[in-house]
Amino acid sequence: MEIKSAEFVISNTDVKKCPAGNFPEYAFIGRSNVGKSSLINMLTGKKGLAMTSQKPGKTLLINHFIINNNWFLVDLPGYGFAQRGKEGRQNIQRIIEDYILEREQLTNLFVLIDCRHEAQKIDLEFMEWLGENGVPFSIIFTKIDKISKGRLQENLKAYQEKLLESWEELPPILLSSSEKKDGREEILDYIDTINKS
Ligand code: GTP
Ligand code: MG
Repeated sequence: MEIKSAEFVISNTDVKKCPAGNFPEYAFIGRSNVGKSSLINMLTGKKGLAMTSQKPGKTLLINHFIINNNWFLVDLPGYGFAQRGKEGRQNIQRIIEDYILEREQLTNLFVLIDCRHEAQKIDLEFMEWLGENGVPFSIIFTKIDKISKGRLQENLKAYQEKLLESWEELPPILLSSSEKKDGREEILDYIDTINKS
């Protein structure tokens, strides 16, 4: 799919204030620093569209970006960031949960996982919560430029085995490197296929 236009629309903390209408939307979630905002910039080809940082906890709001004037990409705050204090963490947790459970236009959630690390409890529990709530999701393994191809295959295999301990079927799994622009076509085509179905 070709990206003809990508524009920032609105940031907010309240799901009720997200854009009205029926355009399908695709949101990115995962631990702080996993590369959600960078992936939005890579997919759209616009470097400064979503704000990124080396420090975790950069994105704190629900950010809507309109693509080709007929669908949205949504950048969400990360979970699991310890330095914001209990109240700040609970607040972000509530924003994320309300958005995921109440946003009817949410067509697919991409759960981003850093390909370098072994399966983390917080991500596995989050995906179980998605399953319990019937939220459609896929996994994107990020930062694949940071490890060798062999190591990536090993990590992928181990992750899939871990998932199969609690899931009967694996969700769709995609790979990305925002640094090297790997996975761009696959992710955009995946979205395009869902948009057309
Ligand atoms: P929060 O908004 O804090 O939740 O983080 P985020 O998930 O949006 O992460 P962000 O996109 O801000 O990226 C965090 C850091 O990882 C930045 O320094 C990025 O440059 C780096 N990064 C993101 N994706 C990649 C990638 O594919 N490869 C490499 N090498 N670095 C990446
Ligand atoms: Mg971010």
